[in-house]
Amino acid sequence: MNSPTDWPEPIVRVQTLSDLPVIPDRYVKPPDQRPTVPISSTSSFSSSKLNIPLIDFADFLNGDTIRRESTLQKIYEACTEWGFFQVINHGISPQLLDRAREVWYGFFHQPMEVKQAYANSPKTYEGYGSRLGIQKGATLDWGDYYYLHYLPCSLKDPNKWPALPLDLRDVIDEYSEQVVKFCGLMMKVLSQNLGLDQDFLQNAFGGDDIGACLRVNFYPKCPQPELTLGLSSHSDPGGLTVLLTDHNVAGLQVRKDDQWITVKPAPHAFIVNIGDQIQVLSNAAYKSVEHRVIVNSDRERLSLAFFYNPKSDLLIGPAKELVRPQKPALYPAMTFDEYRLYIRTKGPKGKSQLSEFQNSPR
Ligand code: OGA
Ligand code: NI
Repeated sequence: MNSPTDWPEPIVRVQTLSDLPVIPDRYVKPPDQRPTVPISSTSSFSSSKLNIPLIDFADFLNGDTIRRESTLQKIYEACTEWGFFQVINHGISPQLLDRAREVWYGFFHQPMEVKQAYANSPKTYEGYGSRLGIQKGATLDWGDYYYLHYLPCSLKDPNKWPALPLDLRDVIDEYSEQVVKFCGLMMKVLSQNLGLDQDFLQNAFGGDDIGACLRVNFYPKCPQPELTLGLSSHSDPGGLTVLLTDHNVAGLQVRKDDQWITVKPAPHAFIVNIGDQIQVLSNAAYKSVEHRVIVNSDRERLSLAFFYNPKSDLLIGPAKELVRPQKPALYPAMTFDEYRLYIRTKGPKGKSQLSEFQNSPR
């Protein structure tokens, strides 16, 4: 597979469809993929108490030994049972988080011709986009996005980031620097929880040479939210994802035993999830779990998905410390470059890429 260079069809910005009375056929999902709950911006939060685990990171950063240990244990359970958790008191200032959301709302609320100057292509995906995957005739998702590279430095090019709003570039620089630090800490926690050296995962990712990129998802209001999805079911191909989103608009749903749980974010929380590369390195001790996004007819929604990834040309396979006769290596080693070409070509398709690459039982 080579990197595709252009979209198979003209790109339509979902934002331009938001005021239509009905959604175009291209966005109508087959019945078995449609959301199951009645949809409004807030009533869709799961009525049951079921939510992804909540971690108070202050207990880890400042707590005594007992609190630290119990936080590590909670994170371990979250990674093995849910693949998702949210973190409050992570140490990053709420003002910075608010500004990060505001500058991106500012970007998406500009006139179309300003945004079109950043239109992306499937070669790198960098810029303003409205689809994932290049399969002609594919059903599309109800969302636009902006995708940019932060690391490695050789790929970081702030000239490809929006020039307006005026402080967007500074805010994104500051935000990304803080999130990278947070991810570095998480990598230590996750390594330790596997019984490995605390630097194990970071080293496996390439030490200081990791990759990091940001996808800002913008989900416009939708006249028929019960027929479509903002983002189809998928697992994240990379390492760790840190998501910041509006706490008062329902959207993200996480798969838990054949049920879709609508995440209710705490204010200023980070939603953290395990990506496929960490599932592979942990030989499936940690789960990279399917998730999707629902939309609604009365509120638009925005999310910043920060992806912390391995250096793209390193081989990633199960840690030899975690491979035993009774637990053989479940996956062959593969570079992240090879791996992500699959999702970049086919678009979001549940967990099909991991199962496609899985070793057959021996
Ligand atoms: C993603 C993602 C969830 C959301 O960008 O990979 O899962 O709530 N986003 O936007
Ligand atoms: Ni995702």
